[in-house]
Amino acid sequence: MGHDTRPRRFDSVSPAPADSAVIPRHVAIIMDGNGRWARARHLPRTEGHRQGVHATRTAVRFCAARGVQALTLFAFSSENWKRPSAEVNTLMSLFVSALEKELPELVQNNIRLRFIGEREAFSDKLKHRIHEAEAATRDNTGMELVIAVSYGGRWDITAAVRCLAVEVAEGRLDPASISVETLDRQLSTAGLPDPDLFIRTGGERRLSNFLLWQLAYTELYFCDVLWPDFDEDALQAAFEFFAGRERRFGRTGEQVSHERA
Ligand code: IPE
Ligand code: IPE
Ligand code: MG
Repeated sequence: MGHDTRPRRFDSVSPAPADSAVIPRHVAIIMDGNGRWARARHLPRTEGHRQGVHATRTAVRFCAARGVQALTLFAFSSENWKRPSAEVNTLMSLFVSALEKELPELVQNNIRLRFIGEREAFSDKLKHRIHEAEAATRDNTGMELVIAVSYGGRWDITAAVRCLAVEVAEGRLDPASISVETLDRQLSTAGLPDPDLFIRTGGERRLSNFLLWQLAYTELYFCDVLWPDFDEDALQAAFEFFAGRERRFGRTGEQVSHERA
């Protein structure tokens, strides 16, 4: 049977209990709007990406300070490879330099790093930095920081299904035993609770192939602020939006209030 032996760092993927519902356990962010931020200042798009690193640092510090257990950041989608090669190259160099620069603070703050996405197309330098950062933070027990680079939700699900198909073909997995949990354990986010709060900056109301499976019951927050301008106040507004939601997971509002009482 295809049991995953990786340790689960969080209890389960089931809804958080009511008393801890105010702070999201897992926050997932599409950091969008860097290009428009730069264009509005007559700067090259890449300058927006450089500025975006500051907003990323702010978001990591804010979430870690509030006791968020996992923060997933969409840094580069599987579709972003279609952008002009100069922009792609600048983004890849930015990932390398930001990782090098930020790693000491992440280590110091007990943050554990995980990269999700298809790594094959990365330069050796980036692959090395990713490996180094994951290794240096492997034993950390604080917030898990998940960076989605060259990531696509459809890629994630497809890769998980392929793993299960191999197990079935080799006689290690009975198709009748495949459940939601079986597939969940093969995704790149295995071991993390599903995101409670999704944030997309930059004004677009779409998922752009982010965590398609994992966002099934996530509270969705869209705001017009461009990513380089997304500061602590903007984060606070998103957390307040989350705190005001009633999460029903299919039940009635009466059932939920009864359970809380
Ligand atoms: C998000 O900002 C960063 C990446 C996709 C890498 P954009 O570059 O998409 O910025 P806009 O949407 O063009 O303003
Ligand atoms: C989504 O933003 C990907 C990231 C922020 C990394 P895009 O700017 O690429 O999304 P679309 O193409 O406008 O949907
Ligand atoms: Mg965009």
